[in-house]
Amino acid sequence: MEPEDFTGLAERLPEPLRLLVKDETVSTNDDARALGVAGAADGLVVVARRQTGGRGRRGAAWFSPPGESLAFSVLVRPVEPPALWPRLALAAGLAVAQAVEEFVPLGGIKWPNDVWIGGRKVAGILVEAGHGFAIIGIGINVNAREFPAGLAGTATSLALETGMRIGLPGVLGDILRQLARRRLQIGAEFHEVLEGVRQRCVLAGRAVSLVTASGRLEGTVEGIAPGGELLLRTATGVQRLLQADEVRLV
Ligand code: BTN
Repeated sequence: MEPEDFTGLAERLPEPLRLLVKDETVSTNDDARALGVAGAADGLVVVARRQTGGRGRRGAAWFSPPGESLAFSVLVRPVEPPALWPRLALAAGLAVAQAVEEFVPLGGIKWPNDVWIGGRKVAGILVEAGHGFAIIGIGINVNAREFPAGLAGTATSLALETGMRIGLPGVLGDILRQLARRRLQIGAEFHEVLEGVRQRCVLAGRAVSLVTASGRLEGTVEGIAPGGELLLRTATGVQRLLQADEVRLV
């Protein structure tokens, strides 16, 4: 198979996005972080044709077979205060869900930012902060038709959902165009992100079990608070969760 050609896309990206294409790397998040530390400007996108050590949330490995999935990271230097940067996770989730909707009717968002199609995960996002910058790392299953045993039944791809093989540069362009807009909405316009996330929230009204820094919690999701926190009704009342690991539907 010919390697994906990202040249045409690089020429059409909205400002300030610039593309750095790598044939192979360990993790595009690590590359973007190193470039951020070295002073790279806002908007640098590192995309890898092959990622050998992709990382997911909670330190899990991220499955991204070459030619069949997109793995990329965007270096951002938000003008908003760092306290608002966790909102980038929701903004990115919405951007990816909207890009997915170029191919399927409605993308679901599993708070904070897994993107689902019909109950299965199609994309994952790992936002990491550095000094003066944040990295938005995105992995999306585009053409994969088979998944390793641990993911079978919980993962899907655009190709499985549409029956078509889809070009990676087109999907990357769709996501970056959405993200260019949504990442600017973590301040005064955050209600626009929230509205989009709430419309697609697959957890609303559902019973969940999740792990937080202070232990396991079980309850029913009431929705998403104005700051992007998950509202969970537990036996002791409604809790606002800023972040949580391992959110599971029960
Ligand atoms: C998750 O759902 O656990 C998040 C997965 C994030 C994977 C992407 S692939 C590109 C970027 N580089 C990494 O090492 N991780 C992210």
